[in-house]
Amino acid sequence: EKGGYDHFMLKEINEQPRSIADCMRGRLDAKNGRLVLGGLRDYMNKFQNAKRIIITACGTSWHAGLVAEYLFEEFARIPVEVEYASEFRYRNPVVGPEDFIIAISQSGETADTLAAIELAKSKGATIFGVCNVVGSSIARATHAGSYTHAGPEIGVASTKAFTAQISVLTMMALKLGYQRGTLSESRYMQLLSELETIPSKVERALKLNDKIQVIAEKYKDSRNFLYLGRGYNFPVALEGALKLKEISYIHAEGYPAAEMKHGPIALIDEEMPVVFIATKDSSYEKVVSNIQEVKARKGKIIAVVTEGDDTVKHMADYIIEIPDTEEAFVPLISVIPLQQLSYHIAVMRGCNVDQPRNLAKSVTVE
Ligand code: F6R
Repeated sequence: EKGGYDHFMLKEINEQPRSIADCMRGRLDAKNGRLVLGGLRDYMNKFQNAKRIIITACGTSWHAGLVAEYLFEEFARIPVEVEYASEFRYRNPVVGPEDFIIAISQSGETADTLAAIELAKSKGATIFGVCNVVGSSIARATHAGSYTHAGPEIGVASTKAFTAQISVLTMMALKLGYQRGTLSESRYMQLLSELETIPSKVERALKLNDKIQVIAEKYKDSRNFLYLGRGYNFPVALEGALKLKEISYIHAEGYPAAEMKHGPIALIDEEMPVVFIATKDSSYEKVVSNIQEVKARKGKIIAVVTEGDDTVKHMADYIIEIPDTEEAFVPLISVIPLQQLSYHIAVMRGCNVDQPRNLAKSVTVE
């Protein structure tokens, strides 16, 4: 049932070109400028006129929510807050009928997320679910929703569900921006056609597997890792660190790269691998200076860069070149090598990749 792979996690990582395409199938038709999310139809008015979007989730799903914050604010110009469900539910949040709540959950059974939904619902907010498991508790508790259609995710570490969540949220943000007029027709069309190319670019990114195995071999005995990115790649840094912690039990932290100088830089020495996501985007130059700061302190640099990058190559110990895309879509590609890196390190350390200690696939207790 692992389809010839050693672990479900590896199978699920490799399924992503297909799971992302499945998620977009029947919804995105770039040629004709069509983007249809069935679940959104009846709530489009509410969504478009929302004063605020609140996204609530836990773990990896919360990271997808952070990516969505950048997407919704950029394309639709609606303020977004992203909340850990466990914090949101217990702090008597200010929420009401003018808020549009998006709850993200692979399993659809996460207790804290479910409780956050019930709370927001009781205050009159509209709740939209982004779930993977059809008919799950969260899917039933929300007013409307869009499934991620990633197929069953068995490995405890979430991989293909994450990219499917981002795919749904990206489509929502584009649709919303177009309807609100904050995204011009020509830009909208351009973004839709680029979005359609993502599955094949993910396919290309997956081919870096052998190179990533070499990097994993080199750093598998490290005791700590730092993951740094800015903008759309900041949530990716958090996700890369979480993946490594979960399955390899190596301590890892993700940070916005600019925050490094406010503390984590003290950790850097010749023993510390630092994974930079330094793709060619609006914060590229700034990330390059952050790389220099780490290099000056003898940290080891593993950099995820855009294909053809010629600057970081001379600074990094290892570079991982991924296909270029729109800045807003980069997380769908840049997370792939980080999933592979954590997978290979965990396997080399003899860890139980699919069922890491102390973790459950659905967290039905708070
Ligand atoms: C990470 C992971 C967890 C889940 C979190 C939320 O790989 O698996 O952090 O993302 O428990 O679960 P869902 O999405 O099912 O609500």
